Amino acid sequence: MTIKLSFFFVFLIFFTYYFTEVYSLVAFTNAQCESLDKDFALFEYCFLKSVNRTFKYVSVKVKLLKLPITKIKMHFVLYKRVNGYLPFLYNMTFDACKFLKSPNTNQIALFFYKFFRDYSNINHTCPYNHDIVLDKMPYHNVNNLLTKILPFPEGKYMLEMHWIAYDIDRAVTKFYWSLT
Ligand SMILES: *[C@@H]1O[C@H](CO)[C@@H](O)[C@H](O)[C@H]1NC(C)=O
Ligand SMILES: *[C@@H]1O[C@H](CO)[C@@H](O)[C@H](O)[C@H]1NC(C)=O
Repeated sequence: MTIKLSFFFVFLIFFTYYFTEVYSLVAFTNAQCESLDKDFALFEYCFLKSVNRTFKYVSVKVKLLKLPITKIKMHFVLYKRVNGYLPFLYNMTFDACKFLKSPNTNQIALFFYKFFRDYSNINHTCPYNHDIVLDKMPYHNVNNLLTKILPFPEGKYMLEMHWIAYDIDRAVTKFYWSLT
């Protein structure tokens, strides 16, 4: 884990150094959600909306059918498109309940969490006893994260998130965007 983390920071420094000066524009291109266990979680909606050329947002609502949830893990894989989507830089699983108790203990999880925190009701500690809503998360949120905090090279990306409750994979959400 220590080796993996230092490897991560080397990458971080590398990308920050080489790509900070590159002006990037982020565009959401798609959002997809799929329930893998329909007795546990159902998506009421999951869509990308273009209000106009500069304002696009993503909204997701997942109905949780077995409440309360006391044990949840998130698995994130970032992909970059190179003749199909290939895993890129991040592939990690973390215990969401532990993380929410003390977010600063896991920098990588915190990085992903910042995508969603301000636009969702996943902003408190476990247990979860309500549906999960991501409400109108605008693309400039992702833009700030990817171009200011952690600049990435140009390309097409996909973030795949698995929702694992009680050690069973229950749902997958995928966000697609491009950096030009
Ligand atoms: C796009 O829509 C947003 C939200 O309605 C608005 O604030 C913004 O001014 C619009 N931009 C343009 C270029 O029309
Ligand atoms: C992510 O990592 C796990 C554990 O190392 C591995 O089993 C899995 O295949 C990886 N997923 C991808 C998409 O590379």
